[in-house]
Amino acid sequence: MESLVKSLREELPFFKDGYVYLDSASTSLTPKLVIDAMIEYYKEYRANIGRGVYYAAKFATYAYEEAREKVAKFINAKPEEIIFVKNSTEAINIVARGLNFNREDNIVTTLLEHHSNYIIWLNIGKIRGCSIRIAGLDEEGNIDIESLISHVDKKTKIIAITQTSNVLGVKTPIKEIVKIAQENGSLVLVDGAQSVPHMKVDVRDLNCDFLAFSGHKMCGPTGIGVLYIKEGLQEHLEPLCIGGGVVEDVNLDDYILKKGPAKYEAGTPPIAEAIGLGAAISLLSNIGMDRIEAYEQILTEKLIEGLSKVEKIKLYGPRDASKRAGIVAFNVNEKDPHDVAVMLDERAKIMVRSGCHCALPLHKYVLKAPNGTVRASLYFYNTLDDVVKLIEALDKMINFFIS
Ligand SMILES: Cc1ncc(COP(=O)(O)O)c(C=O)c1O
Repeated sequence: MESLVKSLREELPFFKDGYVYLDSASTSLTPKLVIDAMIEYYKEYRANIGRGVYYAAKFATYAYEEAREKVAKFINAKPEEIIFVKNSTEAINIVARGLNFNREDNIVTTLLEHHSNYIIWLNIGKIRGCSIRIAGLDEEGNIDIESLISHVDKKTKIIAITQTSNVLGVKTPIKEIVKIAQENGSLVLVDGAQSVPHMKVDVRDLNCDFLAFSGHKMCGPTGIGVLYIKEGLQEHLEPLCIGGGVVEDVNLDDYILKKGPAKYEAGTPPIAEAIGLGAAISLLSNIGMDRIEAYEQILTEKLIEGLSKVEKIKLYGPRDASKRAGIVAFNVNEKDPHDVAVMLDERAKIMVRSGCHCALPLHKYVLKAPNGTVRASLYFYNTLDDVVKLIEALDKMINFFIS
């Protein structure tokens, strides 16, 4: 793994200039082979898909569909179950807007969620009149499964839950939650934005109904994401957007939508981006998701261990690194998190995120940190040296504040 990481870092921005990038939960860096795959499309076979019958059009269609097959294999789905979207946010909106909610229904979500899996449901509550139920967390920030169970009943249309928190890095027991949902006849949407890039996610094993994730957090380009829809459910999910490419037939006053992914991919899709995502998935698959997860686990343990020892640092989330992914939120000695992030950047060339990370309910009501937190997030191209640099820089900064 070390030699692979070393050669990858040579082609990524920041590292070769001495910067330390610790903001991959926000967006990951893009390996050269991903950029090359997109350039090849633009230079060699730049044509629209699913339309033309000439060589380049057929080749572009083939490459786009090949990317869909790679995504499907990556999460153990069928290609027909994979919808290309813009990002996780769009994927969750498609599910929320496309299901037929009524006033008697309720939706269960949690305090761990990113706004993209939270306010979308609040909005559905407003426009469809159904109630939104929020499951709580334990004192470490893990999902309180008893609280979740108490909110689910026969009127729960969907449980929408993240698999990994984008603030605390905690993982949720999706299989257990799917069982609870099935006992009540409810659907489960998994927000995989922070899990799919970092661990093996198998939709057949999870048995979830929907899975949303973003290409740009897994070495792919921006502008491409994925919505997995379990076989059979597409019939019950209206598309968010219609137009060219989605119809089987059109008459003067009616139309018939296609079946399968095309139903949800109106207009010209992000072709180069899908091909780029396919290349990113080949890279991740070649390395092996289990290997990536194990490597990141080692870095996470060191990060938590190191930060716990720095005086004046308040760490959020479980201390036991095996319970979490490489996303660690903290605060420094009552300092504004943005000030800490600016100092890390300016004095130590370390890039971290600061603020509420699109998770205001979690910061306000659970962490009691309404001004936010500093968040360091890792990916497999980080090293132990990156972790050590962050800890040393914080240690120095805190001495500076105190003196
Ligand atoms: C857990 C989680 N869900 C959803 C999103 C939204 O992802 P995107 O901005 O790619 O739509 C993010 C982004 O950080 C996230 O961390």
